[in-house]
Amino acid sequence: MERSTIVTYLEANKDRMLNELLDLLRIPSVSADSSKKEAMQKTAEAVKQRLTEAGADNVEICPTDGYPVVYGEKIIDKNKPTVIVYGHYDVQPADPLELWDSPPFEPVIKKTPIHPQGAIFARGSCDDKGQMYMHVKAFEIMMKTNTLPCNIKFMIEGEEEVGSPSLGPWIKKNKEKLKGDIFLISDTSIIANDTPSIDTGLRGLAYMEVEVTGPNRDLHSGVYGGGVANPINVLCKMIASCHDENKHVTIPGFYDKVVELSDDERKEMAKAPFSIEEFKKDLNIEDIYGENGYSTIERTGIRPTLDVNGIWGGYIGEGAKTVLPSKAFAKISMRLVPNQNSDEISEIFQKHFECIAPKGVKVIVKPHHGGEPFVISPTNPAYQAASKAMEETYNKKPVPTRGGGSIPIVALFKEELGLDSILMGFGLDSDALHSPNEHYGLFNYYKGIETIPLFYKHYAALSSK
Ligand code: BES
Ligand code: MN
Ligand code: MN
Repeated sequence: MERSTIVTYLEANKDRMLNELLDLLRIPSVSADSSKKEAMQKTAEAVKQRLTEAGADNVEICPTDGYPVVYGEKIIDKNKPTVIVYGHYDVQPADPLELWDSPPFEPVIKKTPIHPQGAIFARGSCDDKGQMYMHVKAFEIMMKTNTLPCNIKFMIEGEEEVGSPSLGPWIKKNKEKLKGDIFLISDTSIIANDTPSIDTGLRGLAYMEVEVTGPNRDLHSGVYGGGVANPINVLCKMIASCHDENKHVTIPGFYDKVVELSDDERKEMAKAPFSIEEFKKDLNIEDIYGENGYSTIERTGIRPTLDVNGIWGGYIGEGAKTVLPSKAFAKISMRLVPNQNSDEISEIFQKHFECIAPKGVKVIVKPHHGGEPFVISPTNPAYQAASKAMEETYNKKPVPTRGGGSIPIVALFKEELGLDSILMGFGLDSDALHSPNEHYGLFNYYKGIETIPLFYKHYAALSSK
């Protein structure tokens, strides 16, 4: 397979490949929003149709207990290796809508300083419809130019953004269908468009909801204030006590299983280009913040965290209402690193919160979805194939990095199917995933489509040795 064959086909079909993605982005497939059920089905059907057009066989919309998985395959030779492509067609909710410069499901292309060739602004453009669709187009190129060197299976799910609750059971029931050698996923970031990188890990997640109840009803804050525990005051104090002055998490046992990296590994990580000044400028913050003794790259990659995602209670309407609320709530997530376990961390969190609550309030801790961390060695031959593919198209060897985000199902691929995952992402952290004005560079979209077939080339070559 020559790179020029891919580039020629890509150049001739660029505009169509872009328009197809824009069509996909127009369907509001928000998995968290139960009013979007129809859009979810429509998106699954669109993915099915596109896979079929690209040349996949046995394409089907597989029902699960939740939103369906779209499956398709091309088996060229049973003796050749099989790559399974994973991606997700669901997206995060678009709100707050008023902060979008253009409607989230009406994609527009605009230039930005980081994307001088233009970027597609739409919810899901980067996470993950844009990145997932690169694989469909790369597959089309390999089919149409007769260069597919190994077997391929697609598994595109619709519940990633809500924790993939139905995918685990579906995998367990479909192990035969999912026989393969490696997962290939584009749902992570690269450092910069002139600095390719490949994630060698993902953090796990434990997500909790805390409800603190004080008095049995909202009270007059003058008549009762000072005489009963205010659940919001109490919750704030409990949350604040979760970090010490060094910004370490104080929950007993939290760090017990954390794998510390060796000095050599940390030195290797520190080679990844990172500018604190640009980081601060991008986020408009005066200074960085985080656990003492670790760099920003380490804090967001190899260290576990505890963050409040939302907190509410009491009066938040217009003006002032003097009230001592009966209840306070918070959603708290903990990002986990190898070898922490989400069930264990959820349990010690729950015990800790029950233990530090003062008498006078009741605390209920409810775990939401979780997921386990994942790591892969850069010496893995499939990682090497991805590295070679990116080196060919970026003219630079990609840097191994750790992704701070989570794709919980990746650990399950390893546990249930015994398969590793290659996290060959093409988005940028600054593409505003999950935020208003999410976008994806045209450069990134086309570069991904161009690079993916080369992964197959190098992977097939490795496996035939
Ligand atoms: N694609 C992201 C994960 C990601 C983004 C990993 C950037 C590395 C770099 C994924 O769609 C996501 O948002 N995952 C969620 C977890 C899920 C359980 C809601 C996350 O990380 O918050
Ligand atoms: Mn994603
Ligand atoms: Mn996401």
